[in-house]
Order: sequence, then structure tokens, then C-alpha cells
Amino acid sequence: MQSTTQHPQLQATEIPARSPQFVQIYRANAAALRQELTHGLLQAQAHCSPKFLYDALGSRLFEAITELPEYYPTRTEAAIFAEHGQAMARVVPPAGTLIDLGAGNCNKAAALFGRFEPARYVAVDISVDFLRNALECLQRQHPALEMWGLGVDFSAGLELPPSIAQQAEGGPRLLFYPGSSIGNFTPEQALAFLRSVHGACSPVAGSGLLIGVDLVKDTATLEAAYDDALGVTAAFNLNLLLHLNGLLQADFRLEDWRHLARYDTDLNRIEMHLQARRSLTVHWQDENGAPRERRFMAGQSLHTENSYKWTVDGFGTLLQQAGFGQVQHWTDAEHRFAVFWAHAS
Ligand code: AVI
Repeated sequence: MQSTTQHPQLQATEIPARSPQFVQIYRANAAALRQELTHGLLQAQAHCSPKFLYDALGSRLFEAITELPEYYPTRTEAAIFAEHGQAMARVVPPAGTLIDLGAGNCNKAAALFGRFEPARYVAVDISVDFLRNALECLQRQHPALEMWGLGVDFSAGLELPPSIAQQAEGGPRLLFYPGSSIGNFTPEQALAFLRSVHGACSPVAGSGLLIGVDLVKDTATLEAAYDDALGVTAAFNLNLLLHLNGLLQADFRLEDWRHLARYDTDLNRIEMHLQARRSLTVHWQDENGAPRERRFMAGQSLHTENSYKWTVDGFGTLLQQAGFGQVQHWTDAEHRFAVFWAHAS
């Protein structure tokens, strides 16, 4: 830092340097992951949680997906914030703490700092290692903002550790869950998750949830968004097999599998599968190191992700069932995507 003797004008504005603080709660348990994967691979319809799509390469492929012409959710959500941000700021109480669920590169929340002027920013992701660079860089740009990186697996429910919950008592909590990640939960899981978010809001009056939700639309638009012409989503899905090979010492071969994305109009969800191109047997080791195998006939699949689409009314009802009071939403001109503000009380 330059000396203030040389630059006396700095004295009035100088802000003591802060550093983000990090709390890692989640610890990967290799045996539990192997057990979970073995269980899913041996079901009649083999399945595996979409969380396994996000190893280091998968996370980068997902970032590439958000830039594809067919994948409209990310830019539509950004356009809704650009167009309606002022209106949102009029109804969302000034945030003491902005809590960013699934923060990743922190870009989406950082774009809200100017609008909502939080005193504290809590970036939540499965691992603080994903957050470290982004938060350190953001801290330099926003030296007055208190920043925390929290490594938790909030998919089964959100609970703030006491060290952060105490800090977050000063002023309303603005929970932020963008990108329609809620769509990767079944409706039952989504309700349970929203109840836990409501619980994390409730201790402080004025708190609430700002959440991005992808809306029901025509099948062609949806299937193109999840099966793009460049094949990036196919690579994202197939990369899961490489991840499983590492986690399970499995012998999946990429050339034996094809990416499938189909919209189910009854369940309002895109289903992603990896379909066997020929009859084959996959081998792996379970949590005890015991050999396991599964035969896939040609055309059978491994179900890797659901992405539910909601109607505005359906999602509003879900928020109310989760305990939220006043609910408001903003959408784009084509009603592709919506951002909801749900007041906790
Ligand atoms: C992260 N999640 C909201 C994305 C979605 O649209 O369901 C994941 C994704 N899968 C394929 N493309 C994008």
C-alpha cells in the first residue's frame, strides 16, 4: 500500500484491508459416494445424482453451456435482472447479508451488490476451493464488504453454521438462488429445500428469497437447450462417465454411450440420459472394494439429470407451501424464465 504521507488525500477514504473468511463444513466421503453410486447403478432404471456432473471439467463444460445460443436460461435471467432490477430493489428490503446459494464464480451475486448494497456477502458452494479465487478477487474490488466462503452440501437442506449465523443477524438476509438450479430437484425435494431456506430466513425480519426459475415451454426449445448443435451438453453428460471411472475404478468407455435429452410433458421435466449404443457390461468396485457389474442392453440408459420446468402459478404455490408470505415475480417478454421474490414472513 502507498504511504498516506505521500498521498494525504487517501486518508479520508482509506478502508482497512479485509480478507474473505472461509468455513469448510462438507467433507467428501469416498466410501459413501461409492455406496450411493453402486445403489443407483444397480436399480432397474440405472440412475446417478446430477451432482456427479460437476467435477473440475464438468464445471467448466457447464460454464460453456451457459454461453450456447440454444441455452437461453442464463442470458434470459440476466436480462430480467437488467430490465427489472430497479423494481426488485423497491420491494426487496435492504439486505444486511446476501447469501448466495451455489455461488460458483460469484458473478451473478456480484452483479447485485450495487443494487442491494449488502453489508456482508456469504458465498455458499460445496467446496470453498471453488470460491477462493473468485472471493479474493471480489474482496479487492469491494474492500468494505465483509465476505465469507462457506463449503456445505446444501442440497439436503440449508443450515448456516453458528459462526456465520451470528454475523448474519445484523439486517435482513437476502437468500439468492439463481439459474433455475431448483429445477434439478424433484418437486418434493424442492419443497423440502425451500422449507429449509425459509427456516434460514425466518430468524431475521425482512428476510426473503430471490430465486430464478425456468418456465414450461414448447418441447423443441427445451430439447435444443439440452442437446445443442455443438455437442457441449453431450460432452457435459458423457464426462460424468469419466468422473465415475475415477470415483469407482469403473470401465465405462465413452464410445459406447450417447447423450439423450427428452422433455416429458406430463412431468414437466427434461430428462438427461446416457444410452448404451450396444449391449455391454460395466465393472466397478463398491465401497468395500468388492467387484460389481451391471449389464446394459443396447438402448438401455443411465439417467443422469432431471431439469423441472415450472409454471408461474405452480412455483408461487410451492413457495407458499414452503412458508413464504408475499410472493412477486418478474419475467421476460416471451415468458421463458421468471425471477421470484418471496418474503419470508
Ligand atoms: C444447473 N442446472 C440448472 C442446469 C439445468 O438447466 O438444469 C444444468 C444443465 N444440464 C444440462 N444443461 C444444463
